[in-house]
Amino acid sequence: MENTNHRTPKVIVLAGSLRKGSYNRTLVRIAGQGAQASGAQIVNIDLADYEIPLFSEEIEAIEGAPAGVKDLKRLFRDAQGILLASPEYNGSISGVLKNAIDWISRPDPDADGVSAFSGKIVGLMSASPGGLGGLRGLNHVRDIFTALGSYILPSQVAVAEAYKAFDEDGNLNDSAQTDRVQSIGAEVVRVAIKLNN
Ligand SMILES: Cc1cc2nc3c(=O)[nH]c(=O)nc-3n(C[C@H](O)[C@H](O)[C@H](O)COP(=O)(O)O)c2cc1C
Repeated sequence: MENTNHRTPKVIVLAGSLRKGSYNRTLVRIAGQGAQASGAQIVNIDLADYEIPLFSEEIEAIEGAPAGVKDLKRLFRDAQGILLASPEYNGSISGVLKNAIDWISRPDPDADGVSAFSGKIVGLMSASPGGLGGLRGLNHVRDIFTALGSYILPSQVAVAEAYKAFDEDGNLNDSAQTDRVQSIGAEVVRVAIKLNN
């Protein structure tokens, strides 16, 4: 049935990595469990499944957004929340993720003014083999989503030494850390329901 009042918010679950064994994808799926347990409909997005060329205003003007980008724009417009795990590359956001955000952020003539990012509730996290868990990059991700008009939760999680943080089933070994990650998912849902009803 069509979701009209957002009592069942849709939450995008996304990692900024194309890597099959991505720690960030593993992490954000755990946050997605928290959102699902709080009543959200989860929309898992793997950027590797979409055709996303390097953004160029010429491609956009001459050919329009590629089909994969159009699909992503629709999914984001239709969602009320976003759970995002961003790898830290050289102290910042991964190029893959920034490129996807740039494409998705472009206005769409078919969208009736509905935005992909503005007004969406965003929960941030990161995982890295390093000791800070990608925390520095999250500051940049936060700035980007502020520029896009999203509401970013104050809490975030950075999982350090990610090579030993997860078991082979994709769970975190530390139950307190699991609780913190799942509570970000739950908080996105709680705020999304408040803001959309
Ligand atoms: C170009 C590049 C730059 C990186 N820079 C950082 C960094 O600044 N800080 C950090 O903690 N890890 C850095 N790393 C390591 C990544 O955190 C690591 O590859 C991580 O596994 C990427 O996330 P994923 O597992 O989700 O793909 C870098 C990796 C690459 C390829």
